[in-house]
Amino acid sequence: MGYNVAIDGPAGAGKSTIARLVAKRKGYIYVDTGAMYRGLAVHFLDRGINPGDRAGIIEALKEAEVKICYENGIQQVYLNEKNITERLRSEEVGRMASQTSSIQEVRAKLLELQKNLAKEQDVVMDGRDIGTCVLPDADVKVFLTASAERRAKRRYDELMQKGIECDLATIERDIRERDEQDSTRELAPLKQAEDAVLVDSSDMTIEEVADAILSLCK
Ligand code: DC
Repeated sequence: MGYNVAIDGPAGAGKSTIARLVAKRKGYIYVDTGAMYRGLAVHFLDRGINPGDRAGIIEALKEAEVKICYENGIQQVYLNEKNITERLRSEEVGRMASQTSSIQEVRAKLLELQKNLAKEQDVVMDGRDIGTCVLPDADVKVFLTASAERRAKRRYDELMQKGIECDLATIERDIRERDEQDSTRELAPLKQAEDAVLVDSSDMTIEEVADAILSLCK
């Protein structure tokens, strides 16, 4: 069994930045489970499936093979042997991933993949249900959050920096909508595991958050 660090939290809390940094410092593998849900979302979008079409999604799942590998330490997502990593970060894909991740068959398809990755090596894994469902026996569990306003502002700054025009109010509305969807679904909802340490990054720098989590690791 590898050493497992689980980081859960809402969209835009900085999980991936922090998890990547902690993994790098410890020499562990960073596993981004959101990217797996996004990978399946790309498959559904390419097939023109409506997120509300549950039967269509379950049918399309049969022809979706998601694989993860690492190139220069960076996670790559393959969908049916094609590298789709570049397509994962769009709002459209994120929305589809959030909507379809409430379907049991979608979750079941990715659960084994996630568990196996953590079994074989030391990992920092981030997502929504890592501490509660995927790795209930993780060595370290963190619930990383920040206020919706702060998360929206961070995403806004990130997009503007990339030269992508956007609207702060729309981003905040999307974030609140995603919080609602991810935390109220029946299966594996976003919630803090009882034994997780709560880290509110609203007024912390990236370094401070990373140090707080590193201090919990062996
Ligand atoms: O972390 P992210 O924004 O890349 O995740 C995209 C969506 O995938 C998220 O809104 C909900 C879903 N997800 C999930 O249900 N369980 C996880 N462990 C990770 C992501």
